Amino acid sequence: MDDCQDIKTILVGMSGTGKTNIINAMINQPFDSDQITTQTSSFVDKYIEVNKKKYHIEIWDTAGQEKYKSLTKIFIKDSRIVIFVYDITTKASFEEVDYWVNTVKEILGDAPVYALAGNKKDLFINEEVEEDLGREKAEKIGALFKLTSAKTERNQINDFLKELLEEYIKKNGGSLQKDEAKGTSLDGSIDNGKKEKSKFKC
Ligand code: GTP
Repeated sequence: MDDCQDIKTILVGMSGTGKTNIINAMINQPFDSDQITTQTSSFVDKYIEVNKKKYHIEIWDTAGQEKYKSLTKIFIKDSRIVIFVYDITTKASFEEVDYWVNTVKEILGDAPVYALAGNKKDLFINEEVEEDLGREKAEKIGALFKLTSAKTERNQINDFLKELLEEYIKKNGGSLQKDEAKGTSLDGSIDNGKKEKSKFKC
């Protein structure tokens, strides 16, 4: 197998939309029906192989609560895949996507691959945001779109993540330079304000 490469991936969106549980699905952790709210950002590791090359996906969970918004911004830098998450049963979470799109695009421009995930698909009976609206917004912001359920469609979430990675590779001409991958070093420290070294696994 060829070299491994690092891809920082981040999930942002209103509190309660299911970001942590989507990540749980990505790393084969059980669905948590009583998930406590995220208070700071942190990441988990995942490895995905595409064309016999191994990619280290560093998946960042962020805190969606209003009071943590400015803190969350710190972690957006250097992301290569950004997943905006809303909850199909909560219109306010769909409206809040615009805030996150503006915030993220101001920092990252058009370099990353963007995705819009309408989560809690299993609760469609309580739907407040129709699928078409989601698709329209995705098109407007230049994002891939997916309805997801962190509860009942966990494999599809992993398929989607792989699709996003493939899209990123395609966007970058089929391969990523090692140096470029190293450019993803993170301003991860919020405690002491110092730049931490990224914990690259490749
Ligand atoms: P913050 O950490 O506050 O930003 O929230 P979050 O976006 O990480 O949401 P979290 O994963 O904590 O989920 C919030 C609640 O929604 C929890 O009670 C979850 O069990 C529930 N939930 C998450 N995803 C789904 C889903 O796909 N279907 C259903 N039915 N419930 C979900």
